Amino acid sequence: MHKVSIIGAGHVGATAVYYIAEKNLADIVMVDVVEGLPQAKALDYLHAAPMRKYSVHISGTNDYKDIIDSDVVVITAGIPRKPGMDRMDLMKINVGIAKKASLAIAEYAPNAIVIVVSNPLDIIAMVTLQESGFALKKVIGMAGVLDSTRFRYFIAQELNVWPGDVMAMVLGGHGDSMVPLSRYTRVNGIPVSELMDQATIDQLIDRTRTGGGEIVSLLKKGSAFYAPGASVAKMVEAIVKDEKRVLPVSAYLRGEYGYYDVFLGVPVLLGRNGIEKIIQLDLTPDEKQALDQSALGVKKGVETLRSFYRPGLGSDSSE
Ligand code: NAI
Ligand code: 2OP
Repeated sequence: MHKVSIIGAGHVGATAVYYIAEKNLADIVMVDVVEGLPQAKALDYLHAAPMRKYSVHISGTNDYKDIIDSDVVVITAGIPRKPGMDRMDLMKINVGIAKKASLAIAEYAPNAIVIVVSNPLDIIAMVTLQESGFALKKVIGMAGVLDSTRFRYFIAQELNVWPGDVMAMVLGGHGDSMVPLSRYTRVNGIPVSELMDQATIDQLIDRTRTGGGEIVSLLKKGSAFYAPGASVAKMVEAIVKDEKRVLPVSAYLRGEYGYYDVFLGVPVLLGRNGIEKIIQLDLTPDEKQALDQSALGVKKGVETLRSFYRPGLGSDSSE
């Protein structure tokens, strides 16, 4: 049985556990700083096992040592957004938390593939890469799977078709300038442009870009977690089953798409070894310009990061 550890047993972490358990993908360890919280949630999940028929073991702990020898570690620890906040507003606190988690992963689970979820996603992925010292292909940001599923859902809803028939690709940073690519969006093979007009597509692209914010303003106390949890589980499944799935994830780029030393959402082949290949698409000038704009937002975030954090030297954040 594979072992997956989830750092942060809050909304996203606990929801990811639900989807992972329901598919019997791996034994699961939930880690949180709040005493009793991960233990309680793990026990609650185990109570459901006879009904839901999963045979994986689920445990909760406040001790990072228990992630020992995990195959996959997911970092969801951190604070989420509240109304009026940008994902970048979370940076200082979440960088400190990610640093702690990354050092623990490097110590106890050096062979793990790490999926980063905490926001600002593309920045926290960078911190995780630098603090863990892991290979580039082993540190992967979760965002494109979530942003794409939102785009897929909005298209399905508009066309009144089964959501599973819609395939879409969203690239770029995990922010409001993300780049949903309508040219690569199809409904069971049919280009979406043959099924709806450009104005409607543009409207759905806008709704996708602000999809996370729409939920924040409705929820008021936090951000989305059901679709994010399901997105994590999909990536975990691709890794533990070595599925070689083509999915958009945030990957560290070294010249791909013309960008250097930055995490950005791009299509990759995801399998047992993590990012097994970055897939380079031929973008139109408009698509490339939109991606440039999105990359610029992430680069500005990296500059902010550099103003208070140096890899390995700690940060002055409160964590
Ligand atoms: P939450 O507040 O429900 O859960 C976070 C948990 O992390 C809490 O239980 C907290 O006690 C725990 N935690 C804090 N410091 C810790 C540490 N040092 N070690 C272990 N656990 C620690 O927040 P939620 O809704 O689960 O969101 C988590 C993060 O994921 C946020 O930063 C949010 O913005 C981000 N997010 C990212 C998405 C993406 O697409 N990449 C989607 C949804 C959320
Ligand atoms: C989202 O897109 C909060 O980043 C998170 O829902």
